[in-house]
Amino acid sequence: MHAAFPSRMWGWRPYEKRHIDMKKIAILTSGGDSPGMNCAVRSVVRYGIYKGLEVAGISYGYRGLIEGRYQTLQPRDVSNIIELGGTFLKSARSNRFLEKEGREAALANLLENGIEGMVVIGGNGSYNGALLFHREFGFPVIGIPGTIDNDINGSQKTLGFDTALNTAIDAVDKIKDTSASMDRIFLVEVMGRFSGSIAVSSALAGGAEDVLLPGEPWSIEEILKKIDKGRRRGKHSWIIIVAEGACQAQELATKIKAHNFDVRATVIGHIQRGGSPSAFDRILGALMGRAAVDGLLAGKNCHAVGWRNENAVIYPLEDAVRAKAENYKGQLNLVHILT
Ligand code: F6P
Repeated sequence: MHAAFPSRMWGWRPYEKRHIDMKKIAILTSGGDSPGMNCAVRSVVRYGIYKGLEVAGISYGYRGLIEGRYQTLQPRDVSNIIELGGTFLKSARSNRFLEKEGREAALANLLENGIEGMVVIGGNGSYNGALLFHREFGFPVIGIPGTIDNDINGSQKTLGFDTALNTAIDAVDKIKDTSASMDRIFLVEVMGRFSGSIAVSSALAGGAEDVLLPGEPWSIEEILKKIDKGRRRGKHSWIIIVAEGACQAQELATKIKAHNFDVRATVIGHIQRGGSPSAFDRILGALMGRAAVDGLLAGKNCHAVGWRNENAVIYPLEDAVRAKAENYKGQLNLVHILT
């Protein structure tokens, strides 16, 4: 039945004109949750209604889209969520959406519910799904970058990064207390399989001695040499921030221990994904939500919202899914200079 919707033929009005009298949009959160997602949903719902739209919330991301988990959201449905971490819409990573059959089922549900545009809050995987969906069916989509990784091309900040960074720093500060008291080396593993954003920023903000990033070469000899140099300068405690994509903190700790150092490893883990969003992420969510609604109504039907120079901007989704060119050299150098 779903195969009855050939590409770019789903609508009953010309594809280019649909936004002009768009009446109903959907919103979902997808992939790894991030603090601030609720703020963006609240903004899309309330601003969308203000602009005359009906807004349907879809639970469990693309999985819910396929399973038809829709609920029309009223302004009161998003009351008292601005300060909550996670996503009240719930999130998921959907394997079925990777299959054409799954995407066709998703489209059928959107059409049955009279939905004419969709806001997708998520990271790279979610953006790629939205892009594919638009390319296949011409369905209008707009992305809001919701991920703690800060790795969406074209956006200087992603929703949740600031909160996650502050969570990481809070942990680093506490570890520094015990590290300094016991003259110990500590390895602190932060999130970021492919991105070094949280690692390098928490190293700078937390006053760490060293930092290891995904894709940046490091060697045990170099690490030991730096620790030794530090000792000769009178430093006894030593914090190394390790991005999860660079190496496993526990494994590295074992290697350092073999050289007769007192060393411990701490993995901060998913604590970084939770918690009440920072003021910055709340404001980002509000501004990005408004930009997403305005974008859909302006016919930006395959776009993403980004944050550039203190403004929410709208740009093509195909730019947003490109790999972000991350250059941490300057920040890395500064971490070492300030040690
Ligand atoms: O993309 C956000 C993120 O938290 C990454 O930093 C981390 O590598 C990954 O998600 C963890 O994914 P999961 O929650 O599926 O273990």
